[in-house]
Amino acid sequence: MSVLDRFRLDGKVAVLTGASSGLGVGFARGLAEAGADLALGARRTDRLAATAALVEKEGRRAISVGTDVADPQACQRLVDEAMTAFGRVDILVNNAGVGWAYPAVRESPEQFRSVIDVNLNGCYWMAQAAARVMQPGSSIINISSVLGIKTGGLPQAAYSASKAGLLGLTRDLAQQWTGRRGIRVNALAPGFFETEMTDQYQPSYLASRTERILAGRFGNVEELTAALIFLASDAGGYVTGQTLVVDGGSTIT
Ligand SMILES: NC(=O)c1ccc[n+]([C@@H]2O[C@H](COP(=O)([O-])OP(=O)(O)OC[C@H]3O[C@@H](n4cnc5c(N)ncnc54)[C@H](OP(=O)(O)O)[C@@H]3O)[C@@H](O)[C@H]2O)c1
Repeated sequence: MSVLDRFRLDGKVAVLTGASSGLGVGFARGLAEAGADLALGARRTDRLAATAALVEKEGRRAISVGTDVADPQACQRLVDEAMTAFGRVDILVNNAGVGWAYPAVRESPEQFRSVIDVNLNGCYWMAQAAARVMQPGSSIINISSVLGIKTGGLPQAAYSASKAGLLGLTRDLAQQWTGRRGIRVNALAPGFFETEMTDQYQPSYLASRTERILAGRFGNVEELTAALIFLASDAGGYVTGQTLVVDGGSTIT
């Protein structure tokens, strides 16, 4: 096998949450380009259909399943539908996420819980459902954030806590499943990538963040997708329990 062949995902099936916008759309296209069929989950099913069309344009199969990852039964349904359609699940990308800035003294229990429910709990429900059917050689990738590692200058307790929690979850699931089940579990920690999520930030805030990025710019989704394919494929076959930071150098400044 050539070194580049190790990055191929031919014959594999990926379950991808948060596939209706932003990074998820780029991930879907990249996973399909590498050879995987996809089960796509998010709440906005009309937008999932558009992502499915991109996957099919790459010559791969896709199903769309309306999914709220805060609901454990909905997570189980997404994996069940993937098994019904494709008969296997090799890759899980836990990408669904929400986040906003809100001062801690004013944040209600419901607001805080709603972020944890999606960004942290949702990843656990999805991982549990997927791991029950995954065969040895499978890979789970949790999309965390540099805000799970450092502060971002805004009041984001719920988001930061959820993304830091995801790094602990990644380590523990790797410990439970890599040896016993042959499932690798890793996290990606992206820096800034322009999506609907970053649209909510003021231009002045984004400019101040850019100054701290060694590369001098935000990332583009293809650069993050390349790291995702590495962790999803046999190229990353000896990597587990790790967090791969893709941030243009912002966390070291
Ligand atoms: N963009 C960045 O710079 C950046 C940096 C670090 C980390 N991240 C992480 O990357 C991931 C993708 O974010 P993005 O930037 O692409 O933002 P985005 O465009 O807002 O996408 C978020 C995705 O999550 C889905 N989602 C939200 N709540 C959900 C729920 N309860 N159940 C199922 N799906 C849900 C959304 O779909 P529906 O609304 O249709 O459900 C959407 O597809 C997130 O985990 C985010 O924290 C992003």
